[in-house]
Amino acid sequence: MRKLYIIGIGPGNPEQVTIQAIKAINQVDVFFITNKGETKSDLTQFRKEICERYIDEPSYRTIEIIDPWRDPTIDSYTSQVEAWHQQRALIYEDLIKNELQEDECGAFLIWGDPSLYDSTLRVIDQIIGRGQIHFDYEVIPGITSIQALAARHKITLNGIGESICITTGRQLSTDLVSSTENVVVMLDGTCSFKNVLDKEVEIYWGAYVGSDKEILLSGTLAETLESIEAARSAAREKNGWVMDTYLLRNPSARRLDK
Ligand SMILES: C[S@@+](CC[C@H](N)C(=O)[O-])C[C@H]1O[C@@H](n2cnc3c(N)ncnc32)[C@H](O)[C@@H]1O
Repeated sequence: MRKLYIIGIGPGNPEQVTIQAIKAINQVDVFFITNKGETKSDLTQFRKEICERYIDEPSYRTIEIIDPWRDPTIDSYTSQVEAWHQQRALIYEDLIKNELQEDECGAFLIWGDPSLYDSTLRVIDQIIGRGQIHFDYEVIPGITSIQALAARHKITLNGIGESICITTGRQLSTDLVSSTENVVVMLDGTCSFKNVLDKEVEIYWGAYVGSDKEILLSGTLAETLESIEAARSAAREKNGWVMDTYLLRNPSARRLDK
């Protein structure tokens, strides 16, 4: 039976690829690598580097997938993403059927960890649900950008007994920050931390964490807001893309047991 590995490869540092991931990568006949366009070609290159660096007997094939277009005319964000995932499912199904022999092993190399803001497992579920092809699959965890951020800032994400909320820039609000001690924000293209009213909230920010382009800044929002915004925009200008994550820590947030 065909086998698929969904392998977390960490957030951009080849030394943060786990031994389990390296062992799985060495079983693979075909790597399916999604190309998300020119600006993200560094990410595609990183996946190729991982293969070159860690595969002992390089007899594998690489199939590049052009990511389908997300239709902005569809009304809600959720419907847009669902339609986009359906298209991905059809493309992946076709490739698994046509590019992978019955006894071969394929893999998707997932940025960070597959459990966090990544749609590959949802797309795999859709393919299985369609029942057109059959395969076995296994998920190999990777280091997330959140873990890499915490390690580089030398912090724990939570104080003793506190909660952590992980969300996106789109969902960040002053209410959330005033009711949650620790909020981790990902997928934020617009520096949404600017909209948090309490400027004494602390931010631990990182872009390209773990890679040689890494930038780290921390302090209260009052102290760092402008420098983070400037650093992010300069980095985006220079590299054509930027991925950043941050922790907002609000020591005065309301706790249920206080
Ligand atoms: C589509 S999500 C993928 C998250 C990934 N699965 C993970 O485990 O980290 C992309 C977001 O992850 C964050 N991210 C990924 N790699 C990063 C890095 N090296 N440095 C900072 N943030 C990163 C950014 O917030 C980016 O917008």
